[in-house]
Amino acid sequence: MKIRDSGMPDQGMWEGFFSPTQILKTLEFNSGVHDAVEFGCGYGTFTVSAAKMLSGKLFAFDIEPDMVEATKKAAVYRHITNIEAVVRDFMENGTGLKAESVDYAMLFNILHLENPVDLLREANRVLKIGGKVGIIHWNYDPVTPRGPSMDIRPKPEDCVRWAEEAGFVKPKRFDLKPYHYGIVMVKKGE
Ligand SMILES: C[S@@+](CC[C@H](N)C(=O)[O-])C[C@H]1O[C@@H](n2cnc3c(N)ncnc32)[C@H](O)[C@@H]1O
Repeated sequence: MKIRDSGMPDQGMWEGFFSPTQILKTLEFNSGVHDAVEFGCGYGTFTVSAAKMLSGKLFAFDIEPDMVEATKKAAVYRHITNIEAVVRDFMENGTGLKAESVDYAMLFNILHLENPVDLLREANRVLKIGGKVGIIHWNYDPVTPRGPSMDIRPKPEDCVRWAEEAGFVKPKRFDLKPYHYGIVMVKKGE
């Protein structure tokens, strides 16, 4: 089932809110990342930049066929061939990826869902030990130009608490001006 309040404005407006490469670099998406997974790729705003930065494959999932189509189009337009964009309800069915198979999980503008710990557990399952989860979300501030309603909008400390519950450690927080915050955490070893 589609997560609550996850509709998107038009692509031009949405993409005006972000500097994807800069955000990814800040969130430690670096040369150590071989394969990665993105939960809810939307228009592919971050997908194409991330795919260019990694040496392996980017698995990008979205429940909306139109979003997956937009992501595929963006990849073709930028001559990027290492994105596997798939229509899938990851809340209902998980990602289907093998356990401990990727180095980085992208949870961007999605943790306002009903059961964030379940999603973070799936991210944790597919990450290698020592792999990282990158989270971004709208600032907890009603004047941001978009973002989920305040009653469901997570604060950074909520995201960290949920991620700890799902098996992540060593939180680092970042101010992604003007409207977002970022968090990077590491999958705990056995
Ligand atoms: C707010 S958008 C964020 C898109 C992208 N992460 C970004 O920041 O540009 C959330 C996306 O999650 C997708 N989504 C919502 N529920 C989902 C589910 N259960 N399974 C897969 N994708 C889902 C929506 O279709 C939407 O494209």
